[in-house]
Amino acid sequence: MSVDNRLQRIAGMIRRGDRVADIGTDHAYLPVFLIKEGIAEKAFACDVSDGPLENARKTVERSGVDGITLRKGDGLLAVCPEEIDTAVIAGMGGDLIARIISDAEWIKNGRYELILQPMTAVEDLREYLCKNGFEILKEQAVSAHGRTYTAMKVVFTGQKTDCDPVFYFVGRLSENMGEDELTYIKRKRRIIENLAKDISEVEAKKDTYQMLCAAMDGIDRLLEI
Ligand SMILES: C[S@@+](CC[C@H](N)C(=O)[O-])C[C@H]1O[C@@H](n2cnc3c(N)ncnc32)[C@H](O)[C@@H]1O
Repeated sequence: MSVDNRLQRIAGMIRRGDRVADIGTDHAYLPVFLIKEGIAEKAFACDVSDGPLENARKTVERSGVDGITLRKGDGLLAVCPEEIDTAVIAGMGGDLIARIISDAEWIKNGRYELILQPMTAVEDLREYLCKNGFEILKEQAVSAHGRTYTAMKVVFTGQKTDCDPVFYFVGRLSENMGEDELTYIKRKRRIIENLAKDISEVEAKKDTYQMLCAAMDGIDRLLEI
């Protein structure tokens, strides 16, 4: 079974030998890949819904691999704290990812790594992480199926930070600039520019407009390097 670039990038961020929970696993493609490749020692394929869990069961059965446990549950509540080292939460909105993290107080512990791959509301997720004591250690972009995504490795440090808007928009992507990162950041720059244009004449949104302009300047400086 082959997995796409996005899941491969996520798999590449996982520590070898970890016990991994894939939260919102759907077809369990990631857990099967992690076990087959010898990346994870054990994997939990977790989902809140019966349909995806049935998909997962079929994928695991077809693969013939051992070491994957299926769990039904809401977010991280599907696993016990002592069972895992890493949690992957991928392919969901950033707001849902933040809610799943905040519902599991035990994940606020530096021994766990979180690999997060939000599809939307990425800025909100980065802001949530910064303001709640999580640190984004590494972030990479990846293109798949005509779209560019970001994936981040996160740990809890307890240190709450107020990051600047540029960080909320591009995270740590600029630290490892490759083709995919450049595509992601340029696209984000265009989105911010359009948002700014839309509100440039709205007096009540003056502060947001100024923040967006500052973010564009910051991104332009990053892209000049
Ligand atoms: C689009 S799929 C993503 C599948 C896979 N993680 C990926 O990245 O390709 C989203 C999955 O998350 C599941 N999901 C949504 N909310 C969830 C929650 N609160 N807890 C666990 N799973 C959830 C859905 O049932 C669905 O199977």
